[in-house]
Amino acid sequence: MERQYTALDRIIASIDDALRLSTGEAPAAQRQNPAGDLAAAALDEDQRRHVAGLMRINHTGEICAQALYAGQAATARNDATRDAMQSAADEEIDHLSWCEERLRELDSRPSLLNPLWYAGSFAIGAAAGIAGDDWSLGFVRETEIQVEAHLQDHLERLPPGDARSQAILDQMKMDEAMHAVMAEAAGARELPPPIRRAMAFTAGIMKALAYRL
Ligand SMILES: [Fe+2]
Ligand SMILES: [Fe+2]
Repeated sequence: MERQYTALDRIIASIDDALRLSTGEAPAAQRQNPAGDLAAAALDEDQRRHVAGLMRINHTGEICAQALYAGQAATARNDATRDAMQSAADEEIDHLSWCEERLRELDSRPSLLNPLWYAGSFAIGAAAGIAGDDWSLGFVRETEIQVEAHLQDHLERLPPGDARSQAILDQMKMDEAMHAVMAEAAGARELPPPIRRAMAFTAGIMKALAYRL
């Protein structure tokens, strides 16, 4: 007989994922790294540290994305919602893995605070899921819209010629835009402005910390 997974089973599986993701290596990407064999720009020490800070923010963002989707999937009522979230989460694994590779190329490392961000994001995702699938999808849509704008900002702050980072962020930005469209098509509700502002505020704290830590 096929095993039926309860919400508790999914939460336990998520905790297992959390420990692996935030303390170890990202699972293998399904798609090729968009940086491919593009030449690495000659970066001076300040530039290298700056790009590593940006990529560490993006890596932490992807850790949060995994946690949010896991929290939402654990509490989603509708299988179609859960499937849509799972397919977006699979693409976020690619993003996570590409950011991790870029950090390694830059002789840097992921944020030390990732386990904390994972736990907080999981709780927020679960709360969004408990509020209902339409709210949960609304939360995905708003997150992806904010991430897309944030990636545009990072693209403008990369040192000129850093084609490897640029290729990764370009592809991520396209994917995040598609995730917002997917959430919209699946029935996302528009979030109230105070919630949208609270999300941007929390993301701002995460970015400030992950750039350095
Ligand atoms: Fe992503
Ligand atoms: Fe996304």
